[in-house]
Amino acid sequence: MTVHFIGAGPGAADLITLRGRDRIAQSPVCLYAGSLVPPALLDHCPPGARIVNTAPLALDAIVAEMAQAHAAGQDVARLHSGDLSIWSAMGEQVRALRALDIPFTITPGVPAFAAAAAALEAELTLPELGQSLVLMRTPGRASAMPPRENLAAFARTGATLAIHLSIHNLASVVADLLPDYGADCPVAVVWRASWPDQRVVRATLETVAAAVDGTMERTALILVGRVLGAADFAASRLYAADYERRFRPQGATA
Ligand SMILES: C[S@@+](CC[C@H](N)C(=O)[O-])C[C@H]1O[C@@H](n2cnc3c(N)ncnc32)[C@H](O)[C@@H]1O
Repeated sequence: MTVHFIGAGPGAADLITLRGRDRIAQSPVCLYAGSLVPPALLDHCPPGARIVNTAPLALDAIVAEMAQAHAAGQDVARLHSGDLSIWSAMGEQVRALRALDIPFTITPGVPAFAAAAAALEAELTLPELGQSLVLMRTPGRASAMPPRENLAAFARTGATLAIHLSIHNLASVVADLLPDYGADCPVAVVWRASWPDQRVVRATLETVAAAVDGTMERTALILVGRVLGAADFAASRLYAADYERRFRPQGATA
């Protein structure tokens, strides 16, 4: 018996890996994390599966579900939105399973920042304009930030920022970024990326608060950086005709 942690993707039901889908289908128990996991994914559960929304449960109760399935010899599909490597609360569950000697696997998923970039038709790293992407959040009711991980400190790098869990803090995000990024720096807010009701706002640091105007709650990503909407950037050397690569020696035609 195994607990399969599965990244359920950003919202569209077909943005899950084949491995993730197959592990859902083979598991007689499915624990899924509330409103962010698309309900259509639960259609992959086998007939008669025990399906539990863990949003109202505390960690102990979730681990108890896993231990109960373990005792019954049943695999568990454990679904979290996006990918499991960021803000999934997988870490504490894995720690508990290790302590109980319950085996587990991890299947990655499509993270929200990738779905947001796709919605924007944007590459978030462009030659000379931006070569680093910071996946970050601002403090929340349940989560303080380590002291050196503050927005102003990241702003000093000038990197492209993907700011999660922060749409309710938009005014203070803007205030922290203005000194380093400037009022004309492009900003995009993508709400419910890849869901059927996805919305996109493109603005600048100066205009974004008015453009969003409280209309996007919770499931939104704030992207900030000069790479957004840039048309006048250098092409990558990777595909330059005179650039010798291992798989395309100079002189090759294709
Ligand atoms: C608890 S975190 C989960 C992140 C997730 N593990 C991932 O890989 O993207 C939830 C935050 O991710 C962002 N998010 C998740 N799904 C999103 C989506 N479909 N569109 C925009 N932002 C999303 C929002 O900032 C939201 O507040």
